[in-house]
Amino acid sequence: MNPKDGEPRMQVVEANGATIPLVGLGTWDLRGRTCARMVEQALRLGYRHIDTAEMYDNEREVGEGLRGSGVPRNEVFVTTKIWPSHFTPRELLRAAKESLVRLRLTEVDLLLLHWPNPQIPLSDTIGALCKVKEAGQARHIGVSNFTVTLIEEALKLSTEPLVCNQIELHPFLDQSKVVAACRVHGMAVVAYSPIARGGLKDAATLARIGRAHGKTASQVGLRYLVQQGIAVIPRTSRVERLSENHAIFDFELSEREMSEIAALASRDGRIIDYAYSGSPNWD
Ligand SMILES: NC(=O)c1ccc[n+]([C@@H]2O[C@H](COP(=O)([O-])OP(=O)(O)OC[C@H]3O[C@@H](n4cnc5c(N)ncnc54)[C@H](OP(=O)(O)O)[C@@H]3O)[C@@H](O)[C@H]2O)c1
Repeated sequence: MNPKDGEPRMQVVEANGATIPLVGLGTWDLRGRTCARMVEQALRLGYRHIDTAEMYDNEREVGEGLRGSGVPRNEVFVTTKIWPSHFTPRELLRAAKESLVRLRLTEVDLLLLHWPNPQIPLSDTIGALCKVKEAGQARHIGVSNFTVTLIEEALKLSTEPLVCNQIELHPFLDQSKVVAACRVHGMAVVAYSPIARGGLKDAATLARIGRAHGKTASQVGLRYLVQQGIAVIPRTSRVERLSENHAIFDFELSEREMSEIAALASRDGRIIDYAYSGSPNWD
């Protein structure tokens, strides 16, 4: 089903050959029937981008939701991710195949390395990721939770374009250096935890700006990111919030509002545990 007449069409970011819808549904922690139902509903409401991972243990249900929605496969951008314990070439090739089996798809649109793994040479892992793409099992490949240094290393090693770095990003976290590095290399930034795990709704500045536009604080925070060409993948388990998190293309923040929101960010505004990075420093 397409968005209703008169509704703005889904906007996209272009990156190294990939066309990524700016809003996707995050599915971490959505399980069983809830997961399948939310994916199905999201697609019916006009979402065209779904984010999962082998670690989320819900790829089967994401696949069910996709099929249940009736939206043609080629209209949906599906991302999954390989967990760092599967980064040896043999394990990575096997993990990618198993994700496809669970999703019941012949290819994903984007396959990411979920976190860096300093225990396994990046050259081996990137080589295997490129093989998955060459085998037609992933239309595009990319990384997640990569620092500036690691992005540059990965780009040197890769024989295929890397189209994105998926990172924690919301108005409370300053990721300007890694965002700038992605832009230099033509990679998209996909913001995870974009509503700070629900925390945006309590921010007075966002709420005040929202009142001026007839929008919620969470919508203002999401708009702030997409207005910079950054894709967002908010998660919700409530149908009414699916619409809220998607309705961010019918208003625009002024330069002054953008600066006010930018002032909320700090370098230590992270809410996600940095367990797999090998380094707490993102520069
Ligand atoms: N690559 C990585 O390492 C990585 C790490 C973390 C996450 N991710 C991906 O990014 C996705 C999103 O991040 P996230 O799940 O950490 O957090 P998030 O999307 O920032 O926040 C989700 C939380 O916010 C609540 N919420 C949703 N919409 C809301 C709204 N409009 N107003 C108020 N509260 C709202 C949800 O509760 P309700 O369910 O009650 O609505 C849920 O508790 C994940 O699901 C996953 O796909 C990737």
